[in-house]
Amino acid sequence: MTLRNHFHTMIHLVFLCFCITTFSSLAADTISGNATLSGDQTIVSSGGNFELGFFTPGNSSKHYIGIWYKKVSKKTVVWVANRETPVSDKNSAQLKILEGNLVLLNESQTKIWSTDTNSTASDVVAVLLDDGNLVLRDGSESNSSISQPLWESFDNPADTWFARRKDCL
Ligand SMILES: *[C@@H]1O[C@H](CO)[C@@H](O)[C@H](O)[C@H]1NC(C)=O
Ligand SMILES: *[C@@H]1O[C@H](CO)[C@@H](O)[C@H](O)[C@H]1NC(C)=O
Ligand SMILES: *[C@@H]1O[C@H](CO)[C@@H](O)[C@H](O)[C@H]1NC(C)=O
Ligand SMILES: *[C@@H]1O[C@H](CO)[C@@H](O)[C@H](O)[C@H]1NC(C)=O
Ligand SMILES: *[C@@H]1O[C@H](CO)[C@@H](O)[C@H](O)[C@H]1NC(C)=O
Repeated sequence: MTLRNHFHTMIHLVFLCFCITTFSSLAADTISGNATLSGDQTIVSSGGNFELGFFTPGNSSKHYIGIWYKKVSKKTVVWVANRETPVSDKNSAQLKILEGNLVLLNESQTKIWSTDTNSTASDVVAVLLDDGNLVLRDGSESNSSISQPLWESFDNPADTWFARRKDCL
């Protein structure tokens, strides 16, 4: 079995086995400036459809940054950021904006995942949209509907499990 298959199996287990946990929330849909997301903190899309934060599959001691449906009781993860590089301590790992990108720092503050854009924008924000898309934007652009995202999770389908949506509802 390849690692990828293995991961798919694991994600499938996530679909089947996850129960609701209570999460504290930043009560916002945006990570900006000096804000960091750690531990059980999450952001929620404006209409309350999707939530982003660390999740922990099954009995695993590994934690992943993911996006899941906020409104369905069985936790259904639709996108995973760091599937190759899970962290073992979500309280000291940090998801934050660094040098124009959204990055995940592990326990030793080493960058283990990044949106990896060549953006030179100094004021970048990450927003979780109500369709489940996580977008990275120039926060100084006041009209968000005309600013092209610098990066979006929908453009990273390798990390997306939307195809399995039917399994879950
Ligand atoms: C981030 O923190 C630094 C140092 O504390 C501060 O100078 C800067 O203004 C802060 N930026 C934002 C956007 O809050
Ligand atoms: C979790 O661990 C317990 C105790 O080790 C075990 O009985 C159970 O089957 C495990 N569940 C999963 C989903 O692996
Ligand atoms: C953080 O990531 C770096 C680079 O992959 C690794 O060398 C280090 O051991 C990691 N830290 C922990 C606590 O896992
Ligand atoms: C970023 O710049 C490097 C070097 O110029 C280039 O190879 C890479 O394709 C660029 N990445 C993106 C996402 O534009
Ligand atoms: C933003 O741009 C769109 C498209 O040009 C326009 O329809 C909308 O009215 C603008 N919104 C604001 C707040 O300026």
